[in-house]
Amino acid sequence: MQRELALKVDNINVFYGEFHALWDVSLEVEPQQIISVIGTNGSGKSTLLNAIAGLLQPRGGDVELFGEKISGMQPHQTVVRGVSLVPEGRRVFGRLTVYENLIMGAYTPRARKRRSTVLRMVYDLFPRLHERRNQLASTMSGGEQQMLAIGRALMSEPKLLLCDEISLGLAPLIIKDIYKKLEEINRQGVAILLVEQDINRSLKACQYAHVMLEGKVVLSGNPASLTLEEVKRAYFGV
Ligand SMILES: Nc1ncnc2c1ncn2[C@@H]1O[C@H](COP(=O)(O)OP(=O)(O)OP(=O)(O)O)[C@@H](O)[C@H]1O
Ligand SMILES: [Mg+2]
Repeated sequence: MQRELALKVDNINVFYGEFHALWDVSLEVEPQQIISVIGTNGSGKSTLLNAIAGLLQPRGGDVELFGEKISGMQPHQTVVRGVSLVPEGRRVFGRLTVYENLIMGAYTPRARKRRSTVLRMVYDLFPRLHERRNQLASTMSGGEQQMLAIGRALMSEPKLLLCDEISLGLAPLIIKDIYKKLEEINRQGVAILLVEQDINRSLKACQYAHVMLEGKVVLSGNPASLTLEEVKRAYFGV
């Protein structure tokens, strides 16, 4: 019997005009998995997540979510099917409150109907967001804003959560805390695709990792089988 996959990225190529940003990128995420993509600045990590979410359209190749082709769809269509992106740089709405930011994440008809139930779940996961629900997002700390960005992404009840460098610029203890929350989200049945520059942190969290360099996947394996030495070599391209 064929394994069910939450996500299958099959040989996608992405261009910005003439610039070839992703080259035949393939990867898979099983429903219960956390998968990492590690890569330095400009290696194509955000491009990959944006292509999965429908913000960019691959030229060639396919993206499937639970067996359904989603490449070619717009972001609002991929959200309805269960993809949610925690964007690079958090992008919370600074002039809105925490509560209002969360509500913005529940914009699909289904999410709107379920929003009070899901809001309670998000507040249970992040009690700090509940405490600060009436605070303006711009006045939250970096770590709190990251929690808010994750909480907002959860409001659409995703089956696949895409996280773009959630640890960037945060203190180690806060990062640890946020990764614990991700593991909890994963245990609740959400598949997670993480992209990170931080090699150690993402290897620790995932069941399988890919290293990207200049738009290509140059090394893949489970963290136990990869040595730090070979990951670093692939990461820096030396
Ligand atoms: N809108 C754009 N137009 C043209 N080129 C772009 C655009 N966005 C990204 N690129 C280029 O595509 C390549 C990959 O960029 P991408 O943002 O995916 O990298 P990244 O791995 O997310 O980097 P970082 O860790 O700095 O966020 C880079 O060379 C970048 O300059
Ligand atoms: Mg990026």
